[in-house]
Amino acid sequence: MLGRLNHVALAVPNLAAATAAYRDTLGAQLSEPQALPEHGVTVVFVDVGNAKIELLEPLGDASPIAAFLAKNPSGGMHHVCYEVDDILATRDQLKASGARVLGDGNPKIGAHGKPVLFLHPKDFFGTLVELEQA
Ligand code: CO
Repeated sequence: MLGRLNHVALAVPNLAAATAAYRDTLGAQLSEPQALPEHGVTVVFVDVGNAKIELLEPLGDASPIAAFLAKNPSGGMHHVCYEVDDILATRDQLKASGARVLGDGNPKIGAHGKPVLFLHPKDFFGTLVELEQA
């Protein structure tokens, strides 16, 4: 069911500062910032070859990462994203085994233009898990 690691997402309080650190200090290749109002974040992708790092800054008043940053003011690891072949079949299989899918249970279109879902961190040992259809 689980495919490749697609990205690790880091919540950051200041995207410009995080972008500068990854680009200038770490010498990484970065995307342009992309505002995703439906997800309440602005995102920059860091290309690390075998996967991506996603830098997330809150966007708007109801950002889903606002509470995380309130608890972790300097930022931190927010979620990991794995690829799956069939997101609806995977969702149904997970729900049947008792895992909780966040939101209304229907995939949203994620930052890469593909359907994504999130799984409750309490079901996966404290880590928020995103699934993206490959
Ligand atoms: Co993500």
